[in-house]
Amino acid sequence: LVSGIKLFETTDSTQNIAHKLAEEGAEEGTLVIAEQQTSGRGRMGRAWVSPAGKGIYMSMVLRPSLPLQFAPQLTLLAAVALCRALKELVPVEIGIKWPNDLLINGKKISGILLESSAEDERIRHVIMGIGISVNLTIEDYPSELAEIATSLRIASGEIVDRASVVGAFVKQFEHLYRLYLKEGFATIQSLWEALSVTLHKPAKLMTPGGVVEGVPVALTESGALLVRLADGSELPVFSAEAVRPL
Ligand code: BTN
Repeated sequence: LVSGIKLFETTDSTQNIAHKLAEEGAEEGTLVIAEQQTSGRGRMGRAWVSPAGKGIYMSMVLRPSLPLQFAPQLTLLAAVALCRALKELVPVEIGIKWPNDLLINGKKISGILLESSAEDERIRHVIMGIGISVNLTIEDYPSELAEIATSLRIASGEIVDRASVVGAFVKQFEHLYRLYLKEGFATIQSLWEALSVTLHKPAKLMTPGGVVEGVPVALTESGALLVRLADGSELPVFSAEAVRPL
């Protein structure tokens, strides 16, 4: 899948570089990696802490021939691939918090940001951004994140080789992406459900439409979390600012 790797010492965001390359016609599988980002970005307008040499900051150009509405499935696929890759490398418990955060001991270890460019509701390209906190220490995080963020080094007590992490992810992603393009979402959906730490635990979800309390019971085809409410009905939740245990 990886058709070329562009390495940068410093960039604002690997997402910006990958978008630009994609606009210029870069092939599927073009991978942009930086040692450091000066404006790494996360979901919901948040920043992504990207100190030099300590994490993995990468963005891959994808060109699946799919309607735009399938983009959330790719995000879930990326989370499954990353979870499997990290499990291979470090002997710690890692799970997926809906939709696509990976957690170790309840703390965030990585983030996934998919940005799509579409024409007539079909994907032209997707930039899959992956940030992995590999060898960050607690001092690398601003105080408001120190409580909720971790790294492979903090969790395992060992320095982890970043190239091995990139390699393991790319291998897992390539396998699952090909499977998905051939057979559809069902396998990814069940792999995601098996790795999820969100399912079957009563939770409070801060959604754009208000607070939802219930038990998440499944992932839907469109990537929504199906929440069973107190009255027994099931509500699909498409996005939430926060998911808190009850
Ligand atoms: C999240 O909010 O959890 C998603 C974080 C995504 C961070 C990665 S780091 C590489 C790529 N470049 C960016 O600016 N963001 C993504």
